[in-house]
Amino acid sequence: MQIREATRADRARILAFLKAEDPEDYVISWIGRFLAAGRFVLLLDGRKVAGIVHGRLAPDGSAWLSAARVRPDYRGQGWVNRLNDFALSTPGLRSARAARMLITHENTSSRRAAAKGGFTQATALSFMEWEQPVSRKAPAGARSGFARVSPRDFLESARGSTLLARQNGFAYMSFNGAFTLDERSARAARPWLWLSPASGPVMACMFPDTGERWMAIQAFRSNSTVASGLIDFARARRAESITVILPAAESARRPFARAGYTASEWAKRVLIYDKKVRPNYTRGLTASRGAAARRTRRR
Ligand SMILES: CC(C)(COP(=O)(O)OP(=O)(O)OC[C@H]1O[C@@H](n2cnc3c(N)ncnc32)[C@H](O)[C@@H]1OP(=O)(O)O)[C@@H](O)C(=O)NCCC(=O)NCCS
Repeated sequence: MQIREATRADRARILAFLKAEDPEDYVISWIGRFLAAGRFVLLLDGRKVAGIVHGRLAPDGSAWLSAARVRPDYRGQGWVNRLNDFALSTPGLRSARAARMLITHENTSSRRAAAKGGFTQATALSFMEWEQPVSRKAPAGARSGFARVSPRDFLESARGSTLLARQNGFAYMSFNGAFTLDERSARAARPWLWLSPASGPVMACMFPDTGERWMAIQAFRSNSTVASGLIDFARARRAESITVILPAAESARRPFARAGYTASEWAKRVLIYDKKVRPNYTRGLTASRGAAARRTRRR
């Protein structure tokens, strides 16, 4: 068995692995985005791909690990944590002082693996979705009230957000990961920063390279004004659908449900796991070759 970083030349074998496991896997349609930002790490059995994970830096400089997949006949042998360790030791992620990942509440295998890898649950989030075909445009001249804002003014307006406090200080942006909000991450997230006098601050990202008119929004307040204001914002930006990131609490979801949003099927309750890592972590590199951990019991 071998673990190594993927190169662009591995694109086809990564896609073949993903399609064989689950043709509906979202990573397939986002492969270009995954390859452009961060790197995949591969678990290889000879020439066969037996597992993958993707690592990238989040806006606060932490490592964001996602797209962990291990072929069923290799599961239960600790490979995902070896993949994660290897990813954290690669040049792109070596500077990170924390590693984080998102796991759905129901994914007990992944949660077990996270616990064994030294991760602990940092916060629980819930996503709400809204959708409307773009042909039903906002009326001419409609204004959402949202305007772009500087990192400094954004931080000022987000300070004291009870919603952020309920997320234990972690903001989340699809694909980019969970991150603490500070000067560094606000600067890195500059294109996402918006402020409205009525609705306050939000982080919003449109992902134009995916070809979808879909907007991911990290809210900082939850009330009826924000819930309907974000629909106006989406329509003004000609978005067809929105995913709003909220703390996993009924009280945070309620104003959005009343405004016509529905709870995300896969992300009604998603957990952010976190662990501290030493910068210049090298354990993974020394573990790049070797036998699987001995199985101590039947699954
Ligand atoms: C989640 C996943 C990456 C874990 O990889 P792994 O290398 O098998 O992880 P581990 O060996 O640490 O096993 C973790 C847990 O999986 C469960 N498990 C063990 N063997 C298993 C098997 N054959 N099939 C399913 N789950 C199994 C066990 O609960 C195990 O914990 P335990 O050893 O304490 O009992 C893998 O199960 C997978 O690819 N799942 C489908 C994709 C997915 O859910 N990815 C994660 C997205 S966040």
